[in-house]
Amino acid sequence: MAMYELQPDYISALDIGTSATTAAIAQVDDDGHLELLGVGTARSTGIRKGMVVNVKETISAIEAAVIEAETQADIKMDAVYVSISGEHIRSINNSGVISIGGSDSRRPNHREITPDDVDRVLDQAKAITLPPDRQILHILPQEFKVDLQDGIKDPVGHVGLRLEARVHLVTIVGTTAQNIIRCVEAAGLYLDELVLAPLASAYAVLDQTEMDQGVVLIDMGAGTTDIVVYYEGGVRQTSVLPLGGDRVTSDIAQVLHTTFDNAEELKLSHGFAKFPATAGEEEITIDGIAGRQPTLTNRRGLAEIIEPRLEEILLLCRNEVRKSEVGDKLTFGVVLTGGGILLREIEEKAGEVFNADIKLGYPIGMKGLAEQVASPEFAVVTGLLRYGQLHGGAPAAGRNGHRFGNLFQNFGNQLKGFFKELF
Ligand SMILES: Nc1ncnc2c1ncn2[C@@H]1O[C@H](COP(=O)(O)OP(=O)(O)OP(=O)(O)O)[C@@H](O)[C@H]1O
Ligand SMILES: [Mg+2]
Repeated sequence: MAMYELQPDYISALDIGTSATTAAIAQVDDDGHLELLGVGTARSTGIRKGMVVNVKETISAIEAAVIEAETQADIKMDAVYVSISGEHIRSINNSGVISIGGSDSRRPNHREITPDDVDRVLDQAKAITLPPDRQILHILPQEFKVDLQDGIKDPVGHVGLRLEARVHLVTIVGTTAQNIIRCVEAAGLYLDELVLAPLASAYAVLDQTEMDQGVVLIDMGAGTTDIVVYYEGGVRQTSVLPLGGDRVTSDIAQVLHTTFDNAEELKLSHGFAKFPATAGEEEITIDGIAGRQPTLTNRRGLAEIIEPRLEEILLLCRNEVRKSEVGDKLTFGVVLTGGGILLREIEEKAGEVFNADIKLGYPIGMKGLAEQVASPEFAVVTGLLRYGQLHGGAPAAGRNGHRFGNLFQNFGNQLKGFFKELF
């Protein structure tokens, strides 16, 4: 696994979210730190629940965000790491085995495992048959087993006869990905790599100890809530739920008979995830729509609309964590990120639902313009930069089509319906 070679001078990232599209440019300094040079944000109007529904509007948002980031950095963006999310994401744990000792079982030949062997076993581990339009986005190694020894993180140099890899595979619908790529290219950029949005967030807000000892990352955006479960340094579960902060806002709009924009404004200025017993019940006036009289509520009334919806989303997250089968082993509980978790008293509410340690995930470890991205909405874009720093080096797709080819490998059609059965 050639991971830490050939760092590019600049790394660019694009988070195409449901409410906002954010572009960022960074440079890796001599000490290996990421220095943020420019950030730009534009409102997304062409995205619903993480997926492109209007190509033209999506391109405009990308262009606007990119120009802002480029102007601030005084650098042109070229190849970009781009986030992908949406309900089409499916994931599965799988394993693969190869023989190290040669084909003659009577004369086994122990030898040291090489990086080529690791590539071979990962190829085995990803050899599942997918429905026609589904493709593998990520192959995330969990652990390797050499002969009888398991729990190995890097098997290179170990001596053995048999190598097994356990992996987490993330798959996407090809046409959905193509829509994103088309928008990125139409905005004049090359695709470096597509990265699952919450995986990027994890790179921004988690540290290695959390991933090793077990943690859940929840990124609540406007249109989706994305979940990643880490245990023993590997990804055990990834899920995307097709609802987020927008759902909370539409509930407010519906109950209080007001517009979505008014409801959003109320949520941001007065919203509580759980209303504290001691808080003052400040009155709130809601503008009347289409000639109606203004109405009144108070912060407690607003919280009574927000809390059940938020609880519902968090309970759905909890179900996803249970699927990982390591839910009771996660030392570091739950890390919450994404703009949707910025409600007051969210830690209280999440603590109640998960009965676990709760932390708010703010992007960490950035230099340069770090304060410009010091908020959970920027977890994905800063995580993409970090991902690019760690995995970068290969030429971008647009320049030789290489990465693109790898990403869109298709494994045929024999086991049609396989995923339907599993999920
Ligand atoms: N201060 C705040 N209080 C409550 N909610 C907030 C606050 N700030 C932002 N939000 C909510 O965060 C959501 C946007 O978060 P974010 O920018 O992470 O989403 P996104 O990445 O555009 O969407 P997605 O990831 O779902 O595609 C919106 O629902 C917004 O209402
Ligand atoms: Mg997002």
